[in-house]
Amino acid sequence: MQKIKTIRDVDCEGKRVFVRVDFNVPLNERGTVSDDARVVASLPTIEYLIQSGARVILASHLGRPEGERVAKYSMSVVAKILAQYLGKSVLFLPNCVGEDVNFAVNKMTNSSVALLENLRFYGGETKNDPEFARQLASLADIYVNDAFGTAHRAHASTEGITHFIETKVAGFLMERELNFLGSKVLDPERPFTVILGGAKVSDKINIIDNLLDKADNLLIGGAMAFTFLAANGHQTGTSLVENDRISLARDVLAAVREKGVNMLIPVDFIATNEYNSEEMTMGEVMTVESDIPEGWCGVDIGPKTVEKYGTVVSHSKTILWNGPLGIFEIEGASNGTFGLAKVVASSEAMSIIGGGDLGKAIRKSGYDNYMTFISTGGGASLEFLEGKELPGIAALDRA
Ligand code: 3PG
Repeated sequence: MQKIKTIRDVDCEGKRVFVRVDFNVPLNERGTVSDDARVVASLPTIEYLIQSGARVILASHLGRPEGERVAKYSMSVVAKILAQYLGKSVLFLPNCVGEDVNFAVNKMTNSSVALLENLRFYGGETKNDPEFARQLASLADIYVNDAFGTAHRAHASTEGITHFIETKVAGFLMERELNFLGSKVLDPERPFTVILGGAKVSDKINIIDNLLDKADNLLIGGAMAFTFLAANGHQTGTSLVENDRISLARDVLAAVREKGVNMLIPVDFIATNEYNSEEMTMGEVMTVESDIPEGWCGVDIGPKTVEKYGTVVSHSKTILWNGPLGIFEIEGASNGTFGLAKVVASSEAMSIIGGGDLGKAIRKSGYDNYMTFISTGGGASLEFLEGKELPGIAALDRA
């Protein structure tokens, strides 16, 4: 992978630096931020730029307001949190482009920080409209992309803008993501164990394809395990099975055998006779082995599987984990994910955790501080691990 220039490679003093961050944070019913991990992960870049004497212009999207001004998605909620973390004022600008923004940006002093309103209040953002991109670019001398979580989107602030600014570099968050999800995975210290969970085989098949030549062990969990279980001729009850992917699962099993990868699928499960996905509730619960009886639905991997996977994990040097192993949001179905999180956290291996739902699960487990790296990307980390070139990264200057 070709090295990308970062903010270390440019002199930012006195410059207007446009930083695309990913402050797309979850909001609760009261409209407050329920998880500020993405804001915290952006701090090293912002603090470095402040110390370098840059005029820091931050921009992000929040939610999917589709070109409309939707009050609950105003970036002002993040401006307050950011000011607390930085211990200094953050100028919140209620627009992204236009005369008032130009005026405010031109008045900025060195080491000051401004945050623009939600980029997606403008239809031009997701359409990658060149005129909107040009207007954004006119605010700055240097472009920094630190929004790994949005790097898979070719939008005006992630791709379009780079056609109008000469210097375009990565921030530290982006650099860390490329290092852990890129370099460390491409050239892992062995044994290298890949743990894959989540709902669907179809969502993870490209990652399996991409990592088959690299992985020593492949541990499967989550609902995608039921499609593999069905492919091996087991009963799956009412568990989520992708019937149209059973033959694909068989192909994967054959390819894995051919490559000599040690692939494990669960040997036991937690199952329930009633699962309500809207209310996140379950009926009776029992532990079952390999065959899930009629009328029962698998919701988590079982204790024997956690133990078996734990043994593999504890003999690994590098661990890449993407996707939860059960419905961790429900207490009785979280032991698989949290149990293995404990083993991964206790191991001496480098632990690289894919973002999205698994990032949320690991933070909920309380073991987040013991992991080597937790990605801030959901869809972006998935596409990156599939080996795709992400437009927000492709557009940056090469070292
Ligand atoms: C994410 O949360 O995955 C990113 O911020 C991208 O958001 P999007 O899926 O709405 O483009």
